Amino acid sequence: MKTILVTGGAGFIGSHTCLCLTEKNYQLIVVDSNINSTNKSLEKIKYMNPNSKIIFAKGDIRDLSFMRKVFNNARENKSPIEAVIHFAGLKSVGESIANPLMYWDSNVCGSINLLKIMCEFKCHTIIFSSSATIYGNTKTNPITENEPINPTNPYGFTKAAIETILKGIFGSSESSWRIANLRYFNPIGAHKSGLIGEDPLGEPNNIFPILCKVVQGKHKELRIFGNDWPTFDGTGVRDYIHVMDLAEAHISSLEFLIENKPQYLELNIGTGIGTSVLELVKTFESVNKCKIPYVFCNRRIGDVANAVADNKKIISLLNWVPKRNIKDMCKDGWKWQSLNPKGFN
Ligand code: NAD
Ligand code: UFG
Repeated sequence: MKTILVTGGAGFIGSHTCLCLTEKNYQLIVVDSNINSTNKSLEKIKYMNPNSKIIFAKGDIRDLSFMRKVFNNARENKSPIEAVIHFAGLKSVGESIANPLMYWDSNVCGSINLLKIMCEFKCHTIIFSSSATIYGNTKTNPITENEPINPTNPYGFTKAAIETILKGIFGSSESSWRIANLRYFNPIGAHKSGLIGEDPLGEPNNIFPILCKVVQGKHKELRIFGNDWPTFDGTGVRDYIHVMDLAEAHISSLEFLIENKPQYLELNIGTGIGTSVLELVKTFESVNKCKIPYVFCNRRIGDVANAVADNKKIISLLNWVPKRNIKDMCKDGWKWQSLNPKGFN
């Protein structure tokens, strides 16, 4: 049974990935500071899969001695960490503009720390949560992995910087490292059971949790940021991907890395299908039989018109295809929100 360290594993994407990993019989060590999560998500995973083996270590990846202890304990327990799936980080574009240093410190210093400890313990396999935000304003859509890296906000710069660091590490010792940068497009939805889902602490910035709050009556209306974008209906187009498809992409990436020669991968993770804000609203209304009041507002600073993944590379390389459509995302995401209006609390 292989032991995998999952940083940020109590969070939204991390918890869904942990569930899939336990179903594949991996033994997990989850490191999370809970700055944007609660470990109740992990308790739910144990409930959903009673055979799961998860050790939770609460702490910050920037704490070198804590991270050393985590790796050391695993080695002493005769289950050394074989690979790391690295989700831990801050993810709000707006917050990163307001407080860039906090983002550089948490995301970049945190990743450097993690990599130092991985080197110390000769653990050379890592899957990193990168983001489509690193592409910025692209000339072409769908976006391939060869598109220039051109972030437009500090959050995006931290993700691009971590990719650069990982590339350098791979270059320094190509015979040992197995690295995958997974560039997520827009993850939404939840596990179909409604038992785990997205539970951001504080006010959400992303459309899906905001949309759910409107339906719950916590917000009067959805503010749609712009109806004058150069898209077919004037609203922003994104490549929404079901969080379970994203979680499964991590399992496929991990298995691919472990089974193949050392290598460095950059992979888009999306469905390849663009959905406008208005289409998302209409789909949500029809699937969940509800009404979403909305108003058009000014464009949000930093937004792009269109961001859709060219996902040919991941589909041809890995044993993975996205299986769930936008209706499934709306249905499953709302099921979690409606069954758990206060999240995990
Ligand atoms: P999340 O906030 O739910 O999960 C991140 C987890 O990391 C949280 O549980 C948080 O408590 C933890 N964490 C943060 N900083 C930490 C630190 N220094 N030490 C230890 N734990 C720490 O976010 P998510 O949506 O699950 O995103 C996971 C990863 O995917 C992030 O790196 C994010 O940047 C990236 N990503 C997310 C999206 C998205 O839209 N959700 C898109 C692209 C990339
Ligand atoms: N939107 C609204 N109203 C809202 C919130 C969002 O109209 O209240 C619109 C946005 O303008 C955009 C679309 O909904 O057109 C999606 O916005 P999100 O904030 O949900 O997502 P973004 O595409 O802006 O960014 C997200 C994550 C980033 C990640 C990126 C990857 O927030 O961290 O996806 O593509 F990098």
